[in-house]
Amino acid sequence: MSDLTPEEAFLTLYSDLNREGPGAPADLGWALSVAATPAQARIMDAGCGSGADTVTLAKERPQAQIDAVDKIAQFVEAAQKRTAPFGERVQVAQGDMAQLTGPYDLIWCAGALYFLGVTEGLKAWRPALAPGGAVAFSEPCLLPRPSDAARAFWAEYPQISDVAGIRARVHAAGYRVLGEQMQVGDAWEAYYIPMAKRIEKLRPGATGALAAALDEAEREIARWRAAPSEIAYALMVVAPE
Ligand SMILES: C[S@@+](CC[C@H](N)C(=O)[O-])C[C@H]1O[C@@H](n2cnc3c(N)ncnc32)[C@H](O)[C@@H]1O
Repeated sequence: MSDLTPEEAFLTLYSDLNREGPGAPADLGWALSVAATPAQARIMDAGCGSGADTVTLAKERPQAQIDAVDKIAQFVEAAQKRTAPFGERVQVAQGDMAQLTGPYDLIWCAGALYFLGVTEGLKAWRPALAPGGAVAFSEPCLLPRPSDAARAFWAEYPQISDVAGIRARVHAAGYRVLGEQMQVGDAWEAYYIPMAKRIEKLRPGATGALAAALDEAEREIARWRAAPSEIAYALMVVAPE
């Protein structure tokens, strides 16, 4: 495994993970209920990764039409395999989540809106929402009085703010907040514990780009373990004003 490019090394590490970012199935039930997403809704999983939440959405809304999009072909392939049992009502495609057309009753976006920017992404999605539609997204969030360890965890995301700052970015896009809750602990364990196991499996014989990717992921997990009760995503359910 010494001749991988950095991109191949990244995919080797992240392929076969259940999910590519923090999150837990219960969060989707909460968001669907806060957004009052109807039974026969049309739902988009934007930045779906390998489709963990696409599957949960399909189970939570068994009569809904669910689309999912991700820019990385390998994740799309994995999500297509996982959602095949749901048949035609779940469609996963490779594409750019900035270009959604809709109309969607709910756009779900776990740990991916920061790629577009909260305000920019919400503005871009406004025309893709059906009347009464909502967006649910998770976004890095500083809890009150963050320790140095919490700040160090987010050092590479200078846009991070507290929840008031996230609300301000939502309002700047012309949306209002329907509900919000913090994702701390379980949602992060669901991401990092399988990742730690995957690193252990790949470590023997890993050199070059793969060894570097494993080292970097290990450092990230160590930074999380230094302050697990302080590392949070805010899960926001929002709708146009
Ligand atoms: C941190 S992962 C989260 C994946 C998934 N939502 C989950 O929670 O498991 C972010 C995902 O967003 C995707 N992504 C980033 N920018 C994108 C874009 N412009 N269009 C589509 N997907 C994008 C990445 O490929 C990646 O799979």
